[in-house]
Amino acid sequence: MSDAMILAVAGKGGVGKTSISAAMVRLLSEAYPTARILAVDADPAVGLSTALGVEPRTTLDDVRKAVAAEVTERAGGGVGDILAGVRQRLADAVLRVGGCDFLAIGRPEAAGCYCAVNAYLRQVISLMIHDYDLVVVDSEAGVEQVNRRVLEKVTHLVLVTDGSRRGARVAQTVKRVADELVLYERCGVIVNRVTEADAMAFAETGDAPLLSVIGEDAGQIELDILGKSVFDLPEDAPILRGTAEALRALDIL
Ligand SMILES: Nc1ncnc2c1ncn2[C@@H]1O[C@H](COP(=O)(O)OP(=O)(O)OP(=O)(O)O)[C@@H](O)[C@H]1O
Ligand SMILES: [Mg+2]
Repeated sequence: MSDAMILAVAGKGGVGKTSISAAMVRLLSEAYPTARILAVDADPAVGLSTALGVEPRTTLDDVRKAVAAEVTERAGGGVGDILAGVRQRLADAVLRVGGCDFLAIGRPEAAGCYCAVNAYLRQVISLMIHDYDLVVVDSEAGVEQVNRRVLEKVTHLVLVTDGSRRGARVAQTVKRVADELVLYERCGVIVNRVTEADAMAFAETGDAPLLSVIGEDAGQIELDILGKSVFDLPEDAPILRGTAEALRALDIL
């Protein structure tokens, strides 16, 4: 079995990464009902679970802590035992939603530092790509997870920005760092919550191809207010149409 196609969604805070990741998960699971799909909420601030309508009980950080405690307790245990333990606990942390699997990184209690769980996530992605056909990673805002090589194995990097200068600059920074640290095959930009005309102005300044433009989506705002999931959006919702267009531009749909 060949390794998974791994899509990561990155960009400035609040530009629509989570909404677009959720739309990807829905579109991919509808288009490829037999594919093994994993959705990863890599943002410690959490969001993708709500967007997909799942409530994670065990997170990757819980797995990390449990495995660390186990290794300390059973000093002298073989590497094989430890790996088997990790795999079992990971399997327990994975939830089923809308025909795909879901895993959340979780929120480490130690103030400020996500290094340990980020390092873990990097290894887990490497481990899990053998078990899935498609992986969608909703990453943390900014460039940190690219810097820490968490997204190293990503094959398709989707940068999201709104119409702001800062959004465009963060997307470009992520791209520049990813050029060094991510082994991606394809990369492109989705400009979210803007009109076509505004997006064209962006396209001329960006150095990654424009994949699609998504306008203001009233249905998406309503989802948030009512606490509903992406599966409640109408099929012709702008966010679903725009995300589908981006996936087609990447030859994934
Ligand atoms: N095209 C759109 N039209 C209307 N509202 C949108 C659109 N895209 C996203 N939103 C809304 O904007 C807000 C931020 O979106 P989202 O949470 O997806 O961004 P994010 O990049 O994941 O944010 P964070 O960096 O905080 O994780 C949400 O309330 C979402 O519903
Ligand atoms: Mg988010």
